[in-house]
Parts: sequence; C-alpha cells; structure tokens
Amino acid sequence: MKGVSAIILAAGLGKRMKSTLPKVAHAVLGRPMVWHVARAASEAGISEIVFVLGHGRNALEGTVDRFGGKVAVQEKQLGTGDAARAGLSALSARAREVVVLCGDAPLVRPRTIKSLVAARRIRSAAASVLTGILPDPAGYGRVLRNPDGTVARIVEERDADASIRAVREVNSGTYVFERSFLARNLPRLTDVNAQREFYLTDLVVQALEEGKAVVPVAAGDANEVRGINSRRELAEATALLLGARIAALMDSGVTVVDPRRTYVETEVRVGPDSVIEPGVALLGTTRVGRGVRIQAGCVVEDSLVEDGARLRPYSVLTGARVRKGAIVGPFAHLRPEADIGEGAHIGNFVEVKKSRLGKGTKANHLTYIGDSIVGRKANIGAGTITCNYDGIAKHPTVIGDGVFVGSDTQFVAPVTIGKGALIGAGATITRDVPAYALALSRAEQKILENWVVRKKPELLKKAGLKVPKLSGEDEK
Ligand code: UD1
Ligand code: CA
Repeated sequence: MKGVSAIILAAGLGKRMKSTLPKVAHAVLGRPMVWHVARAASEAGISEIVFVLGHGRNALEGTVDRFGGKVAVQEKQLGTGDAARAGLSALSARAREVVVLCGDAPLVRPRTIKSLVAARRIRSAAASVLTGILPDPAGYGRVLRNPDGTVARIVEERDADASIRAVREVNSGTYVFERSFLARNLPRLTDVNAQREFYLTDLVVQALEEGKAVVPVAAGDANEVRGINSRRELAEATALLLGARIAALMDSGVTVVDPRRTYVETEVRVGPDSVIEPGVALLGTTRVGRGVRIQAGCVVEDSLVEDGARLRPYSVLTGARVRKGAIVGPFAHLRPEADIGEGAHIGNFVEVKKSRLGKGTKANHLTYIGDSIVGRKANIGAGTITCNYDGIAKHPTVIGDGVFVGSDTQFVAPVTIGKGALIGAGATITRDVPAYALALSRAEQKILENWVVRKKPELLKKAGLKVPKLSGEDEK
C-alpha cells in the first residue's frame, strides 16, 4: 500500500497484567502481542511501521527488527494521543495516510486494515475507525454516531454517563488518518478528562470542527476489536488465535485428532496428510513435512521434521532435524543440532545433541550421543554413551558407516571408529579403532565353581533353592 504507514501504540505498562514485563511483550501463541499487530500491518502491505515504546522496550527489540520497524520512544505515558504524536515524529515524508494500531489488540486481521484504508479513501474522510459490537462493552470507549452514520464522538468509559455506557458499539483503537489531518490536530489535544490523559479519540470532535467526517467500519468478527488488559483476556485471545490456527491447519489437509488438546504456535508450518495426536505442542519456527505422524505428548520446538517421519509419544525436540522416514521415541530427547538421518531410528530414553546420524542408523535404547558424527547403518547398542565433556571442553566422537557398537559402551572423546568396526559390549573406548577391527576392553571372565554353595548358601535358601551337597573334593 503506497503512501500508507503504520504507528503501533505500545508504550503502556499495562498495570492490570501485574507484571514487570511490558504488556505488549506478553506472548500470544509464542510471539509478543505487538508482534501479531505488526504482522497484520505488514501482511496488509504496509512497509513502514513505527513502534511507540516506553516501559521495558528492550524486550521488544526482536519484534522491531523482525518487521524492519522504527522506534519512537514515549518517555511518559500521557495517553494515546501523546503516543500517536511521538509516532508521527518518526514517520518518513512519504507517508500520506497513517494506520494507528494498538499494540494490545493482536486479533486484528490484515484484510480489516485494508478495508479501513479503503473506507477512509472513498469518503475522503479525516479518518476511519474500526468498531465492534461487544456483548460486554465495559472498559472500552463507546462510539456515538451522527444521524448519517458517521462517528459523532468516542467517549471513554470513565467519562461516560449511564446512557452512554449502555451503548454496545465500541472503539477498537484501530484507525486510519489522513496524515495532514493528524499533524494539524494532534498538537491541539488537551488532557481535560477523567484520566488527565491526551486521548487520541478526541480527534473525532476536531474532525467535525473542520467539517470533515470520521467513518466507522464495523468489524466482521467483533472479536477482532478486543484489546488485552489482563491475564484472563490474554488467555482468551490466545484461545481464539489458537482455534483459528488449528482450523486453518485442518483446512490445509492436516489431521488434528483432538483440536482442543493441541497447541500450535503462530509460525509453525505443517504439511498435508500429517497427523497430530492429542497433547502435542508445536512451537517456535517448527516445520513439519507431509505425512508425518506426531504422537501424544510430543513437544517440538524450532525443529524440522521431514516427510513421512514419525515422532512416537512424549518425544521432546528442540532445534533438531529429523529426516525423511525416521522414527523417534517414545521418550526421546533431541537437542539443538541433532540431525537424524533418513530412515534412522532413535528409541526410548535416547538423547542426541549436536550430532549427525547417517541414513538407516539405529540407536534404540538408553543412549547419549553428543558432538558426534555417526555414519550410515551403524548400530548403537543399548546404554552407549559418548563421553564428550572432560569438565573443561567438549570433544567429538566419529563413528563410521556400519559400525556395530555393543551395549554399554563408552566412547571417551575425542575418538574415531573406522567403518565396519565391531565394539564388544561393555567397552570403554579411549583410543581410535581402525576399520573392520574388533575392539574389546574388559577384564577376562573368571569362574569360581560352587562358590555360592560354599560361601553364600543363604542366598539359595532365600530363593527357595535346595542347597546341593558337595562331595569331599568340591568342599575345598
Ligand atoms: C483505548 C481507547 C478506547 C478503546 C480501547 C481499545 C483512548 C483514549 N481510548 O483505551 O477508546 O476502546 O483503547 O482497546 O485512546 N499507549 C501508549 N502510550 C500511552 C497510553 C497508551 O503507547 O500513553 C498504548 C498502550 O500500550 C496500548 C494502547 O496504547 O497498547 C491502548 O492503551 P490503553 O491504555 O490500553 O487504552 P484503553 O484504556 O484500553
Ligand atoms: Ca487497552
């Protein structure tokens, strides 16, 4: 949208959140509230976005950067009109129209912003304002209309009498202004009202004084106008966005077995024919391919799960990659930079960190693999541990293609195992093993005949076994 810029008002602390974090930094579906507002503006085609920030603005640096935004600092929170004034001073000269959004209203949709811009243009109005009819309008500014349907006044709850409070059409706090109107009129606002604040909403009366109109646009879905002021409202908004997110996934061909017990954050992508079972959480920037099955209780964050893979119950993945057709879990833990090869198997109570496992490799039980490179079709036995940390630094383990690692092996890194080697069970491997070799490290087995009968017969009795009589020879 050429010539259209956005100002997002987000400097308030939000006392009712009872938090040290600024209100607009609280997460909705894994991203700060104000992030959703900025995304809506960006998806509506607005490239210049000014964030008006105050309290705890460091918490929002990531969001500002993500949208290539500018920051206008409002040191003292003197009201929405004062915040808009701060935002205006940061706008470039090319902005002819200004969309003003509230950082605490994350449900606004891009198409609503577009229709608000269009509505103002059609009437060459001073402004357009998004309104909504709420069953319980308490706390919002009420919209009073002229006989011709344009806005006559917006009255804050605290300045309203009983008859005005009975009005159910509320101000969303989302507007489009003609820039020149805004520049001319923001300096004229006063703080003569119940809250001793400069109200942006007073611009309506100023427009009428100039003989200009303010056109209302009723939101198609009244939920869109909701602002978040408390933790309860935060949870309500999250539930609404989550419901929409999951509905969209189902529409795109994903099976969600129990939508009410599935949590999917806003930037997660899932391919068609994937199945998400109950109690799954997909977080952050997770990407799931086609035909993936994610079973109960899995928590997958910032990870890539490729086509046809399967995550069995209660697996936890963070910053991991699971390649095509691999099977992970139950109860597997894949940590950052775990890279599980095509068709590989990671079984129960296996933890993998910063390690690449080749195609078809298996590590099925009770294992830790860290800082390692494992080739193709290797078999990592139960209880294998890469001892990657010496208390000071991390060291690598390299295991070649087709290596068979017997159970209960420790690799004391750094160490390299050549391809096709065989590690006997119970080994502690401290030196490199050449290709095709057998490596053993265990004390030779010793047998003491009839030792239990002679030294610990009570053990046999306890187990209900008869204690055999030993001949004179055996007695010694
Ligand atoms: C505001 C509107 C009200 C509307 C409601 C919708 C005014 C006077 N009132 O009321 O008509 O129904 O939003 O949610 O505009 N902010 C600043 N600096 C300030 C004050 C506020 O940046 O000095 C920001 C806040 O961070 C917030 C937004 O502006 O994101 C709205 O402020 P808030 O105090 O929540 O306004 P409401 O009382 O809800
Ligand atoms: Ca509010």
